[in-house]
Amino acid sequence: MTNIKLSVSAKIPDSKAGIVYVLGVSGRPENLTLLPHRVDTKSLEELDLNALGASSKFESLVRVPGQNGAVFALIGAGHEELDEDSLRELGAAAARKLDGFKEIFFDLPSEDDRDAVCTLEGALLGGYKYGSKDKGKKSKLASITVLSDHSVSKSTVERSRILASSVNQVRELVNTPPNVLYPQSFAKIVADETKDMDVSVTILDEKALRAGNFGGILAVGQGSARPPRMVKIEYSPKKALKHLALVGKGITFDTGGISIKPAASMVGMKYDMTGAATVYQAILAIAALKLPVRVTSYLCLAENMPSGSATRPNDVIKIRNGKTVEVLNTDAEGRLVLADGLSAASELNPDLIIDVATLTGAARVALGERYSAVMGTADAVSAVEAAAFDSGELVWHMPLPAEMRARLDTDVADIANAKIGSTAGGMLLAGVFLKEFVGSSKSGARTQPWAHLDIAGTANNEGAPYGYTPKGATGVVLRTLVSVAEGMSR
Ligand code: BES
Ligand code: ZN
Ligand code: ZN
Repeated sequence: MTNIKLSVSAKIPDSKAGIVYVLGVSGRPENLTLLPHRVDTKSLEELDLNALGASSKFESLVRVPGQNGAVFALIGAGHEELDEDSLRELGAAAARKLDGFKEIFFDLPSEDDRDAVCTLEGALLGGYKYGSKDKGKKSKLASITVLSDHSVSKSTVERSRILASSVNQVRELVNTPPNVLYPQSFAKIVADETKDMDVSVTILDEKALRAGNFGGILAVGQGSARPPRMVKIEYSPKKALKHLALVGKGITFDTGGISIKPAASMVGMKYDMTGAATVYQAILAIAALKLPVRVTSYLCLAENMPSGSATRPNDVIKIRNGKTVEVLNTDAEGRLVLADGLSAASELNPDLIIDVATLTGAARVALGERYSAVMGTADAVSAVEAAAFDSGELVWHMPLPAEMRARLDTDVADIANAKIGSTAGGMLLAGVFLKEFVGSSKSGARTQPWAHLDIAGTANNEGAPYGYTPKGATGVVLRTLVSVAEGMSR
């Protein structure tokens, strides 16, 4: 977790070298004004801000010398009122652009204590760079302070630190090259990192997976020289009110298997373990926050490779819950590993199951790269939507049309994993497939509250950084999951 000192304070610091004050700029070019602030800006009064290159364009930033070696960073605050998410974005843009300072002071308007911590959270999220844990790339930044009259409790500040650190750790795992991060090494990272934490970890190797009838994970992993793993992580606080189960797709590299992907579509498939990284870091964040909610996370880890031992199209496999699947497309592998994970989670009869997966290219086609899709039972979808809204994350409710189930009919098994020759509603069809593995038994007892998050469009940002989203792995929906858990602990 980051060691940067974080605070919200009303105390104006003494100006000195190494510190920067971030001030908001609004207005038209000929009439730029500084947003209400508290530090002394007399030295700026005589200056033509427009001539200095300052602008109200959201996130634009210029530096102007202040007193005693301190620096003013004038950041464009746009033309609308600063809400929680725009404060996160300004915090992030400033942190990204103000490399090299020891102390950053945000002097932006904040209406309440939540505004103040959003700026902190944004700064931590925006300051992320891949590999920053390496010593050589160490940043000089020692403290971030938000100047505000609103008093913010220590635990609220710590919550921001925990959330941002967890998102950044998801990013770090996902950005790791696939020759370094594979099922066994991922499982070892989990075992090592959680040694002193308030969670227990069970790692199922191939033998245990066979004994436990995890036929989906085994079938996907059997083409790889690197065997699959299922990692189960449990957080069981004494005063738990509810039980949340999280299931993550953890394909450490997706070649497509025998239904191999074309070269251009294969690049980037190291991101296919984002769901597992997300449910891993989410449970650690929930445990660090000591929320009174029981959580069980399942990381379904496999490498999808083509080889002489790989699963073939037309193979019939058996999932943990006893249902058989005819594999028609080995590239639709995520739903096979999730089927095992959802079956196992259902056995615990939790109050809510959420799965997270970079499941379908169709998600990106339908919703683009900023909205994650959510499907599932009405109550679970509402809980996710509310939590996402609260976190400033974008999700969009998509349907699970019952009539689509017939497209997965096959003569040789209970269900097929894909519809060959049709891409219609690909994201929805994947959700319809998953639904078959939610609920405890083959006969299907009660309706288990369940939400499926398809983050194939949002997990990776191929373009330039924006807001608090860096290039590469985004760490999307982690904050939403933690917010769901917070909702369940009230
Ligand atoms: N991992 C991919 C989905 C994906 C695509 C994620 C692009 C991120 C970016 C998944 O395993 C896959 O290949 N899905 C197939 C399903 C199809 C064969 C039914 C797809 O989307 O084409
Ligand atoms: Zn695939
Ligand atoms: Zn995949």
